[in-house]
Amino acid sequence: MYMAHQLLQGKKGIIFGALDERSIAWKTAQCVVAEGAQIVLSNAPIALRMGKINELAKECNAQVIAADATSLTDLEALFEKSMETLGGKLDFVLHSIGMSPNVRKGIAYTETNYDNFLKTLDISALSLHKVLQTAMKLDALNEWSSVVALTYIAAQRTFPGYNDMAEAKALMESIARSFGYHYGFAKKVRVNTVSQSPTITTAGSGVSGFDAFYHYAEKMSPLGNASAEDCAKFCAMMFSDYTRMVTMQNLFHDGGFSFTGVSQGLIEDMQKVFTETAANG
Ligand code: NAI
Repeated sequence: MYMAHQLLQGKKGIIFGALDERSIAWKTAQCVVAEGAQIVLSNAPIALRMGKINELAKECNAQVIAADATSLTDLEALFEKSMETLGGKLDFVLHSIGMSPNVRKGIAYTETNYDNFLKTLDISALSLHKVLQTAMKLDALNEWSSVVALTYIAAQRTFPGYNDMAEAKALMESIARSFGYHYGFAKKVRVNTVSQSPTITTAGSGVSGFDAFYHYAEKMSPLGNASAEDCAKFCAMMFSDYTRMVTMQNLFHDGGFSFTGVSQGLIEDMQKVFTETAANG
């Protein structure tokens, strides 16, 4: 049973991207509220039409405010309304937003559709810049606030099924560093990305071959795959005062996957395949 420690007592924030109970943002909302924070939940208007988020809003005593994260007008209204609702400036933001029309339509990386590609970059990467630029313009974040965006190791290494989301994540991580520099000097606001294990969610399972890949990562990682709940706790820590001097980082939250060459379990699986192939053929 998870024990909360009131790590975020008195803090206020916006959580983007809770679609259903599997979403990393959903678990993070539950976790930060258990830690004493007050939040506003936001998602794209089309996602809100599903209605699921209202269950979470009730549980978290939170208001839901629609915003397409690619629209500066929507984001401005969201930050203004959030400050009004929560009664002052904010202390944290979770950017948990990703979508690739090329992935969704099964279009191969080598045959990409460039209009889709630009949409992928706008939704999954530039949206972080837009969130930060809006927050800065409205002076919506207190000093020492913390902004976290979720990312994936395909930004550094090639994973074939990840398609143009790899470029989006690489761009987003770079935006976190660049904006982190400017926001740090301007207002002591910190910006980091958390690079999470494969997680069974709507966005995650949209990637081709996800199930096999999920098991591969599980076998490769000394601690196993990090769950959405684990990720939520890590984000809560990143929003807390215990990580005040951490900024412009890409932090791997992946059970050790990123620094493992190969695991003994995978070697044994490969040996079995070789032995069977040799026997059959
Ligand atoms: P999810 O599908 O539950 O969340 C993605 C969210 O993005 C949804 O709530 C969706 O409505 C929102 N979204 C899409 N377009 C939007 C727009 N224009 N404006 C505002 N919101 C929009 O899936 P998950 O896995 O919780 O994804 C959250 C984040 O974690 C994403 O950035 C994803 O790339 C990242 N991530 C996921 C991993 C996985 O294996 N599931 C692994 C590593 C990172």
